[in-house]
Amino acid sequence: MAFNIAVAGKGGTGKSTLSALMVRYITEELGKPVSAVDADPNASLGSLLGLHVQSTVADIRDDIVEKKVDFSGMSKDRYIEYAIEESIIEKDKFDLLTMGRPEGPKCYCYVNNLLRKYLDKVGTTYPFVVTDNEAGMEHLSRRTTNNIDLLMIVSEPTIVGAMTMQRIIQLADSLPITLRKKICVMNRVPKNGIHENVQQKLDSLGIEIAAILPFDEEVYNAAASGESVFEVSRENALYTKMRDFLQKHLPSSMFEKTVGDC
Ligand SMILES: Nc1ncnc2c1ncn2[C@@H]1O[C@H](COP(=O)(O)OP(=O)(O)OP(=O)(O)O)[C@@H](O)[C@H]1O
Ligand SMILES: [Mg+2]
Repeated sequence: MAFNIAVAGKGGTGKSTLSALMVRYITEELGKPVSAVDADPNASLGSLLGLHVQSTVADIRDDIVEKKVDFSGMSKDRYIEYAIEESIIEKDKFDLLTMGRPEGPKCYCYVNNLLRKYLDKVGTTYPFVVTDNEAGMEHLSRRTTNNIDLLMIVSEPTIVGAMTMQRIIQLADSLPITLRKKICVMNRVPKNGIHENVQQKLDSLGIEIAAILPFDEEVYNAAASGESVFEVSRENALYTKMRDFLQKHLPSSMFEKTVGDC
């Protein structure tokens, strides 16, 4: 069974960056394979992982709905399974599946039901699945089965950030999913730490922050140069904090070497 990590939060708070850093840590330092899923319609996890995404699940869905597919004797079920496998980018230590843009006004129910059947299987044979989510997370309720072992809710250290975090916590609690652990982190925190007004707001909302992740110049510069997170130095302050965070919150069994692991 895969250990499912999901990252959610307000737009632009660092969800994709932190998801990509987790993929790096798990593959490079734990030596375990990861199934990475970009579930944000505004897909960017691929570029942060140094990949060029050419096909998304949305393309498969749209091609079928717009009748552009020649099934060549294949059943629709078989075709969808094949097309999803084809759209997954495989690297040595991780795979990436990109969901792509949401559906338009046409009727997609039939195709969506078929897609769901196969998407639920994605990553089940991996020790880890890391999913970079859209801010709303509504798509999670559309999956047939969904177990999240660790939900990381990311915020910026502002009053609006704290209030949005509370809404996302409530939304996560209302979703028809099994959510084992929910953790709030503040990202891009300046040198002086979280502003006291923001801390007061968090306290009044009853939100406990599990990790304070610094604004990091090197990560910013890498993004500004279009570089992947693999270019960031191993000693980088943000990466170090993420490493500490994962060491604390992943089950200890995940740190054991298994036969076949590199
Ligand atoms: N700790 C950090 N220090 C410096 N820059 C950061 C940090 N975290 C994220 N960034 C930068 O902030 C910007 C937004 O980050 P990112 O794209 O990861 O956010 P997001 O939540 O995935 O955004 P979206 O909602 O648009 O998908 C990027 O330019 C990224 O490089
Ligand atoms: Mg993103």
